[in-house]
Amino acid sequence: MSQNRWTAVDDYITRLFVPPDFALDAALRASNEAGLPPINVAQNQGKLLHILALSCQARSILEIGTLGGYSTIWLARALPDNGKLITLESNPAHAEVARANIARANLSDVVEVRLGNALETLPQLAAEGLDPFDLVFIDADKENAPAYFEWSLKLTGRGSLIITDNVIRNGAVIDADSIDSSVQGVRRFNAALASEPRVTATVIQTVGSKGYDGLAIAIVNGNE
Ligand code: SAH
Ligand code: DHB
Ligand code: MG
Repeated sequence: MSQNRWTAVDDYITRLFVPPDFALDAALRASNEAGLPPINVAQNQGKLLHILALSCQARSILEIGTLGGYSTIWLARALPDNGKLITLESNPAHAEVARANIARANLSDVVEVRLGNALETLPQLAAEGLDPFDLVFIDADKENAPAYFEWSLKLTGRGSLIITDNVIRNGAVIDADSIDSSVQGVRRFNAALASEPRVTATVIQTVGSKGYDGLAIAIVNGNE
């Protein structure tokens, strides 16, 4: 089974489950035209994020890694009135495209794009003493995924979901000797997730238009 078949099946799924949508489709087009790398979540994966946010009745969401705001729009649309999403992005050009895409989706009042290295903006966020986020989506550089997970634990509470993209990397994740720093980052992340008593977690492999990768999902446990 090959990439062509995975892409064709993703097209089939998308035709069934993801109808054309003005703001989402425009976000992908504008991101492409601005030269952003095509590493946004696939359309059916965006809808999965939306469903996960709905299922935990998220009122506040944190995203680490905005790109053009495609996943951001899917997540923000799951929020109730007065919901809030903060998304962290280090690349000013990406943040600018994202802000325009978010505005086109009428979500500028709901979504705050924070420009800066997440390793710096996360401690700032923690210092603000906000209520726990109901959902965190980790999707920035893979080298720092373990650090993003540690901050996510500080910024969430019982019942919160922590979802992490790209934890399989075409299967390279099982290569303990990999010289790819993003593979090593993901390996350390998966090990930390698996051994963390504060969460109940698993990893699912995925194939599709974006190739062969995977998603980690964790729920934050209570204290008892
Ligand atoms: N979540 C997006 C895709 C994000 S791609 C979607 O699915 O639509 C990863 C993004 O993380 C890129 O835009 C990249 O610039 C950003 N990034 C990489 N390192 C970062 C860092 N240290 N801090 C904040 N953002 C970072
Ligand atoms: C890359 C990053 C992503 O978030 C993704 O979904 C796919 C690829 C990357 O940096 O290569
Ligand atoms: Mg990703």
